[in-house]
Amino acid sequence: MGIKIVSTGSYVPEKVLTNFDLEKMVETSDEWITTRTGIKERRIAESETTSELATKAVISALGRETGEDIDLFITATATPDMFFPSTACLVQSNLKNKRAVAFDVSAACTGFIYALYVADSIMRTKEIEKAVVIGAERFSKIIDWKDRSTCILFGDGAGAVVLEKGEEEGILGFDIGADGSYKDLLKVESVGSNGEYPWYLFMKGNEVFKIAVRTMAESAKNVLEKTGISPDEIKLLVPHQANYRIIDAVAKRLGIKNDKIFINLDKYGNTSAASIPIALDEAVREGRVGKGDLVLMVAFGGGFTWGSCIVRL
Ligand code: ACO
Repeated sequence: MGIKIVSTGSYVPEKVLTNFDLEKMVETSDEWITTRTGIKERRIAESETTSELATKAVISALGRETGEDIDLFITATATPDMFFPSTACLVQSNLKNKRAVAFDVSAACTGFIYALYVADSIMRTKEIEKAVVIGAERFSKIIDWKDRSTCILFGDGAGAVVLEKGEEEGILGFDIGADGSYKDLLKVESVGSNGEYPWYLFMKGNEVFKIAVRTMAESAKNVLEKTGISPDEIKLLVPHQANYRIIDAVAKRLGIKNDKIFINLDKYGNTSAASIPIALDEAVREGRVGKGDLVLMVAFGGGFTWGSCIVRL
């Protein structure tokens, strides 16, 4: 018995916000943003909510507008429409499903790997045949658009995968963890019950950067070791899309060459929990990976949280 990703999907809102647009909003430049991060533009959801973005990503993954046959919906998000019902329940309802298990997972930018880990564990132990795992975010709502050190980094979007239980093994292993002692380096306080206005994202970018590089590289090495897979066997590295320099440094530490890294942060910025499933979907649709290929996903985010996963498509 194994668990496999049988299809992928994604959705990004239409509105494009370029670095040149940001030049008119805060004291910054296309040159600064490009050289420090690799980001050129990002998408902004003007009216669509996180659950609407998520629903469109699931429809893209399923290739149809209903999902009565899904047994489990998990959404990774740090920007749910509301405290409850969960985003997963809203997506379930949009897909006309009235019976599945549905809930959200909160692990910031690592959310998708956490959600995949939970879905994989539940599927192996319970009578769940078919699951949808989603990463969906509307970070534009929790950004201080006057803070040039953070507003240039993030964007909105959603990605999803469909998992099925079957003969073949597709999810080969995880390395996953958290260290909450770093809670003050990256946070959004006020959507929680301790919160006070303003409810913007706060980040000590420099410190996050250094720990992100070290932790992502360590986590990826751990999952390679646990699964006995060598970096050479990996067809594509699909990292969390936060910053080109972070990705480049992690890949160097792993000995993975540039042509085996998938990057789309130039188009979307950091979409937090949505970044890996959007990137995976684009990699599949562009033919960069296909059936039988090994993909290494690695993420890092607020908490701090981190996670890596190797899948055979
Ligand atoms: N435009 C122009 N100048 C800016 C901007 C901007 N948008 N933002 C900051 N600066 C200035 C600063 O004020 C500072 O000026 P000073 O030297 O006069 O004080 C200077 O640029 C350098 O600032 P640093 O913060 O040291 O710049 P750094 O090279 O670290 O780049 C960045 C900042 C891009 C945020 C980087 O630290 C980073 O990417 N960190 C990781 C953060 C991240 O991706 N977090 C997302 C969640 S975690 C994750 O997803 C991995």
